[in-house]
Amino acid sequence: MTINTKHELVDKLYQTSNLSFDEYAELIKKRDEETAKYLFSLSQKRREEYYGNDVYIRGLIEFTNYCKNDCYYCGIRRSNANVSRYRLLLPDIMQCCHEGCELGFRTFVLQGGEDPYFNDDRICEIVSSIKKEYPDCAVTLSIGEKSRESYLRYFQAGADRFLLRHETADYNHYAKLHPADHSWTRRRECLRCLKDLKEIGYQVGTGFMVGSPYQTAENLASDMLFLQSLKPAMVGIGPFIAHKDTPFADKASGTLELTLFMIGLIRLSLPYALIPATTALGTIAPNGRELGIKAGANVLMPNLSPVEVRKKYMLYDNKICTGEESAQCIQCLAHRVESTGCKIKISRGDVCKSYTQNNI
Ligand code: 5AD
Ligand code: FES
Repeated sequence: MTINTKHELVDKLYQTSNLSFDEYAELIKKRDEETAKYLFSLSQKRREEYYGNDVYIRGLIEFTNYCKNDCYYCGIRRSNANVSRYRLLLPDIMQCCHEGCELGFRTFVLQGGEDPYFNDDRICEIVSSIKKEYPDCAVTLSIGEKSRESYLRYFQAGADRFLLRHETADYNHYAKLHPADHSWTRRRECLRCLKDLKEIGYQVGTGFMVGSPYQTAENLASDMLFLQSLKPAMVGIGPFIAHKDTPFADKASGTLELTLFMIGLIRLSLPYALIPATTALGTIAPNGRELGIKAGANVLMPNLSPVEVRKKYMLYDNKICTGEESAQCIQCLAHRVESTGCKIKISRGDVCKSYTQNNI
């Protein structure tokens, strides 16, 4: 494939927001520095058209590292006996929000393993307490697969958004990342969840890991088609990074380069999307998140969890958690964002109007 043809594919994506499976796979396989540079020039432009130079900030509260699942890639999987488990209860969570609100956060993301202790009553109590105390803030849940009834209850309690990464859109690949009890039915379950969440009225986020073990360019092409059909409001992607106490301890990590390329593609295929420059991106490279913004990302999710528990939420080795990425160092973060030509925006940072008006 010549540079021209690669540029033509990028142009086509820029103009139509669509590529076919074969075109995505080709472009991903044949990408090079030149193509990436061209892609980022257009993905930055597209982000500016929809969101200007604004980068939205979300306060991430990792409220439990108990998890009933056993995903091969995940550091807090239930079989990892080396994890010191913790839960933040309502008063701890409210304290995090209080701190976050003072720092200017208007979105709180409650993220946790699938922890049966947090039943629907407890989740609803947390959500409604936050909404009561901070009515102008958005609450995002990231707590895994639940029934439609449960999702409805959280929504009625005031939850605005829900993040549930599909991890991979390819069934065979999915089966390589999860134990057998997670496969077939579980994967269909994840799709059911995303559909329910959207129908209920959440702003829905999904996403996947880049460079996860056994992933091919074709798998990534499937992920792109999946995003094209789901049209989520948010898409979180980050490189896979091995965790020493998991079955994937010896697997190679995903690269900065491919993750940035995928961010560029996602920005062009879903122009209105909120795309975080993730912690995993900041973990594989010191300036990873700045480069993510330059590739088209427009969200940062600094850690608001109490410092004592941060090291316990180790999804992968060396996860950055005590330095500049934390919420307390919002000034450092603001400088980093400014270095990309963008600026931090203090607001709920909802998905842009063209998304909701067109009922995507
Ligand atoms: N490397 C990178 N990302 C990971 N996640 C879980 N384990 C890893 C890992 N080893 C991601 C998954 C999950 C999100 C919370 O973190 O995509 O959905
Ligand atoms: Fe917790 Fe996969 S191990 S969701």
